[in-house]
Amino acid sequence: MPSTARYVQQIARPQGAPRPTDFTFLEGPLPTLEPGTALVENVYLSVDPYMREVMDEGVGELHTPMEGRSIGRVISSATPQLRTGDLVFHRQGWRTHALVRPEEARVLPRYEGVPLSAHLSVLGGTGLTAYVGLTKIARVRPGESVFISAAAGGVGSAAGQIARLLGAERVIGSAGSAAKVRHATERLGYHAAFDYHDGPVGELLRRAAPEGIDVYFDNVGGEHLAGALDVLREHGRVAWCGAVSQYNAATPPAAPRNLYEVVHKSLRLEGFLVRNYRDAQRELEDFLVPRLRSGEVVADETMVVGFDRVVDAFLGMLRGENLGKMIVQVGDPA
Ligand SMILES: NC(=O)c1ccc[n+]([C@@H]2O[C@H](COP(=O)([O-])OP(=O)(O)OC[C@H]3O[C@@H](n4cnc5c(N)ncnc54)[C@H](OP(=O)(O)O)[C@@H]3O)[C@@H](O)[C@H]2O)c1
Repeated sequence: MPSTARYVQQIARPQGAPRPTDFTFLEGPLPTLEPGTALVENVYLSVDPYMREVMDEGVGELHTPMEGRSIGRVISSATPQLRTGDLVFHRQGWRTHALVRPEEARVLPRYEGVPLSAHLSVLGGTGLTAYVGLTKIARVRPGESVFISAAAGGVGSAAGQIARLLGAERVIGSAGSAAKVRHATERLGYHAAFDYHDGPVGELLRRAAPEGIDVYFDNVGGEHLAGALDVLREHGRVAWCGAVSQYNAATPPAAPRNLYEVVHKSLRLEGFLVRNYRDAQRELEDFLVPRLRSGEVVADETMVVGFDRVVDAFLGMLRGENLGKMIVQVGDPA
């Protein structure tokens, strides 16, 4: 049993892109077990774009440990609901150890042949976001054309694979480099992909989908959304998941110049938050676990190793250094 725990606090508000100096690493005594709690040693930590929004004034608090989705192992327990050795999902991230109550933790099922880290990627909130966006919001139908932005990231890597499994005839992705474009088409099953730096998104998308698209799964916002509105067919749908292109912006961006296309083409544009769809978790696992075991679906992840690197991993993910879901390994998964 270690005697100390380490954690990360945010100590400054970023102007634009966050920097390493906005954070500090601290060490303190191991949390003391109280009746009804369990002490968890973290194994995997998630770094996610929403954390950038939490850093802004009026959202998250300074000088408190950063929160985030995590997987850890119970190392001592004062509650019968969590047993020593259990692997649990909880939300007290960016620290080596956490004191959790049973209602704050979910004991993870172990699926043979599926890596534990998948519970933070394709079987976690990331995969659930992709699944909900495609099945409950856009309601993709067989034979349709689907465009997904940030295609080689966590949500995008899951969404591309799931869209194909739902019978989409053409799945098109956009990403920030030639290597990511190759990754999307060669590993994730995208039919076509483009680097959004190569020209106006609408033109690149039109070239990849000359017949138009039925669904846009938007992870990026801004010019991507405007480009997709131009290329969507009548009665198309937009599942608006995120807007990572604008999280560092000092002022809220203007609405897309062509928003009226929503009326003109009878489009449906619907935003969603995965936290309102947690009841679909079982459905996601039933859908994906057999396919992960057979190799039909891959848990696409970039694993950064070491607690010291959690801030680097977060900043790197915002800069696009990840392929698939960015995860930090801080303990022994075995
Ligand atoms: N609605 C919900 O409940 C929910 C839940 C989870 C995530 N989300 C959203 O889903 C999106 C993807 O999240 P994720 O966790 O899967 O992250 P991710 O895609 O794994 O990582 C973020 C990616 O954003 C891309 N990016 C950064 N700046 C960009 C820019 N200016 N323009 C275009 N792309 C940019 C980078 O890829 P490139 O190299 O391709 O630029 C980077 O890899 C985010 O918008 C996030 O907020 C929403």
